[in-house]
Amino acid sequence: MIPSLDGLLADGVSGQTVLVRADLNVPLRDGAVADDSRVRASLPTLRRLLDAEARIALCSHLGRPKGKANPTLSLRAVAPLLGDALGVPVHFAEDCIGERAQRVLESARAGEVVLLENLRFHAGETDNDAAFADALASLADVYVNDAFGSAHRAHASTAGVATRIRRKAAGDLLLAELQHLQRIVEPEPPFLCLLGGAKVSDKLGVLEVMIERADAVAVGGAMAYTFLRAQGVAVGKSLVEEERLDDARRILGKAASVGHQLLLPVDHVTVERIDAEAERRIGPTIEAGWLGVDIGPESAKRFGDEAARARTIFWNGPMGIFEIAPFANGTETVARAVAASAAYSVVGGGDSLAAVNRTGVGDEIDHLSTGGGASLEFVEGRELPGVAALEA
Ligand code: 3PG
Repeated sequence: MIPSLDGLLADGVSGQTVLVRADLNVPLRDGAVADDSRVRASLPTLRRLLDAEARIALCSHLGRPKGKANPTLSLRAVAPLLGDALGVPVHFAEDCIGERAQRVLESARAGEVVLLENLRFHAGETDNDAAFADALASLADVYVNDAFGSAHRAHASTAGVATRIRRKAAGDLLLAELQHLQRIVEPEPPFLCLLGGAKVSDKLGVLEVMIERADAVAVGGAMAYTFLRAQGVAVGKSLVEEERLDDARRILGKAASVGHQLLLPVDHVTVERIDAEAERRIGPTIEAGWLGVDIGPESAKRFGDEAARARTIFWNGPMGIFEIAPFANGTETVARAVAASAAYSVVGGGDSLAAVNRTGVGDEIDHLSTGGGASLEFVEGRELPGVAALEA
C-alpha cells in the first residue's frame, strides 16, 4: 500500500518541515522556463501541504549536470513561477544540503516554500550516496515524493531519503499517474499502442511487452525504418539502427506468432536533407539518397483508423521530425485522431506531449503523463524505485 497525502495530513503537518521531491525538470530557453507543465502539475500537492501549514523544502533535479554546479541548470528560474502560482513566498537556497539550505529553511515560516538548488549539482544524488541522502533527510521531519517523472530513478532524493524519514507519503500527482497508467497495464480491448521516436533501442522494452498486450502496435518515427529495413524494404539513407535489425525481426516474428498487428508506415515524407525548405517527395517508396522524415498521409490515416476503433490508447514518441513544420503532419494527424477517439487515451514523453499541445488537442486526451521514461517503465510492468521506497 502506497501511503497517501490524505493519511499524512490527517495526522497533521502544521509547523513541520516537509521535504517534497517534485519533478521540476523543465525545458529552459534563454534562462527562462519554456514549458511550465511540470511546475503546474506539482502545484496541487504543494497547495495541500501549505494549507496544512507545513514549511516546504522543495527539491528537484534539472537536466544532467553530472555532479557539478552549472549555472545554466539552476532551479532559480523556477522560483518566481512557483511564487506567482502559489501566492506565498518562495525562497531560494543556493544549495540543496548543508548550511546554505539550512539557513534559508530556518528563515522561512510555516506556509512558505524553500526551493532548493538542483540536486544533481551533487554526484551523491544520482549515486544514491548514503552521506548525501543523510544530509537531505536531515533537513526535514516529513517526506513527500510527488516526482512521478523521476520515479524510475533509484536516486538519493527518490529512494535513499525515503528509508531515512519515517513519516512519508506519495503526492497527489504521483498517485494519479499510477492510477491512470494502471489502465494501460490492464487495458480494455481493443488496445492500440502508438510508438514513435528515433530509436528502436529506446523502446525495445515497451515493444516486447506491448506486442503481446496490445491488439495493434503502430510504429512511426525513425524507428520504423529499422523495422522496414529488417523486412527487406529499401529505406534510402533513413536512420537505421543496424545493430537492432535482429531485435526488429524478432519482434515482427513475435507479432505474427501471437496474432497481433504490428503496423508500419506504408508511405513516407522524404527529403534529401533535413531542412524545412528542402524539396519533399511523398509516396510509398524511399529513393536512394533520400530519407524519411515523417509518416505519409495514408499511414497517418491507417493509424488514425486504428485509434478510432480502439477502446484504450497509449502513445509515446512522435511520428516524424515534428519540430520542423513541413514534417509535422503525420504526428499532428495522429494527435487529432487520438483526441477524437472515444478510447481512454494516455500520452507520455516530452516530445509527444509537445506535439499534442501544439496541435491544440491536449484537453481532449484523458491523461497527459508528466513522465517519459517513468511511464514507459511502469507500463512495461517494471518496479519504479521511487514508488517501492515509499512502500518499504
Ligand atoms: C525526465 O525528464 O524524464 C525526468 O525528469 C527524468 O530525467 P532523467 O532522464 O535525466 O533522469
